[in-house]
Amino acid sequence: MTAMTNKQNSAPQRFLTGITTTGTPHLGNYVGSIRPSVAASTGVGAESFYFLADYHALIKCDEPARIQQSTLEIAASWLAAGLDPERVTFYRQSDIPEIPELTWLLTCVTAKGVLNRAHAYKASVDKNTAAGNDPDADVSAGLFMYPVLMGADILMFKAHHVPVGRDQIQHIEMARDMAQRFNHLYGEHFVLPQALIEESVALLPGLDGRKMSKSYDNTIPLFTPREQLKKLIAGIVTDSRAPGEPKEVDGSALFQIYQAFASDQETTDLRKAYADGIGWGEAKQLLFERIDREVAPMRARYQALLQDPAKIESILLAGAEKARKLALPFIRDLRHAVGLRPLASRQAPASPQRIAKTVLPVFKQYREADGRFHFKLLDAQGRLLLQSLGFDSPRDAAQAVKMLQTQGAAALAGLQSRLEPVADETSLALASALQQLTEPGPETGQ
Ligand code: TRP
Repeated sequence: MTAMTNKQNSAPQRFLTGITTTGTPHLGNYVGSIRPSVAASTGVGAESFYFLADYHALIKCDEPARIQQSTLEIAASWLAAGLDPERVTFYRQSDIPEIPELTWLLTCVTAKGVLNRAHAYKASVDKNTAAGNDPDADVSAGLFMYPVLMGADILMFKAHHVPVGRDQIQHIEMARDMAQRFNHLYGEHFVLPQALIEESVALLPGLDGRKMSKSYDNTIPLFTPREQLKKLIAGIVTDSRAPGEPKEVDGSALFQIYQAFASDQETTDLRKAYADGIGWGEAKQLLFERIDREVAPMRARYQALLQDPAKIESILLAGAEKARKLALPFIRDLRHAVGLRPLASRQAPASPQRIAKTVLPVFKQYREADGRFHFKLLDAQGRLLLQSLGFDSPRDAAQAVKMLQTQGAAALAGLQSRLEPVADETSLALASALQQLTEPGPETGQ
């Protein structure tokens, strides 16, 4: 199912994704992100937002020249690959001052405990702990806050769908959570975004057969010159079978890369050639020609764009202007919503009835056909967050509910044997719901 055919309402569906500006695009980025995004951006009824996440780059990289160069190369790559800045909104994150402003508003509705659980941060803490170091050694507050900045990127433009790699799913869940919590406190302002994982997009192997990734140093730069491309392809790992011996396509990095560029017919032909014992040298030549056929016209455009950074700059500034037409009025509403208001426009305080109307997550207790007593926790939208196993008496069930209401997530560990396991996707929403229940909020009249 593609999200574009899954229209939830008649409003155009918005797609948004960011690219961190720390490296040079490689073939894996092209196949996994640039090519499908450019294709999706030409779809009817879709509105696409693509941006260079240069504030995010500062979290990982303290070399100013590299950030500038990477911003230039990534922008030029997307444009060379056919992204039409007239059809989409293509901008640089740091040209939108409303994004850091929104980051702060979201920071104030994000539980610190939820950020403690972010994979990237937790991985650093685990590594430090394993090495016997201070858990937060070499962890910047920027790394810790990364998901909130990303939440602001997404929520600012009311994106419905966020095409990302699997490693980013948790960040989208967190953005959803922030949106829910903000809407709960201040009224419906944000769209709840969803991660969009393109199952059909293959993970491209790199030169050594592992996933192509800068961190493995096994990449083929997308727009490397023709001669260099040929040299790099010659270095792809193969087995030692001689020409004439049949070859295996399974596990062959060369075959997988070919498949990502070839038509079905071309793939079938190469499969047959493998069975017929094509020599590795010849197979590499085929792969080189196939990639170069697709990349060469883009490479020429890329080189021309790199020669004209002023043109790229003006494209990005025009994109920022388009983006800010949405961001400016929206942040104005949000400021008003949280109470950052001109003093002359003071309104009477909200009536107690209005305050009482805000919806909280609820516990429901009930008895099953087998006579045992259960409870569950539903969020304000009725989504199931937590489900108990059966208790012998209603008192036992009520006592467990009471513990969760008073101690929040801290009570979960002790109740573990009495609860259904919590799915990974709901654990953040659960933590935030429990926090909402345990803390004094406007609904208690404070
Ligand atoms: N964190 C993303 C990555 O590393 C990049 C990113 C920043 C992003 N902000 C975003 C992706 C907003 C999607 C939406 O891949």
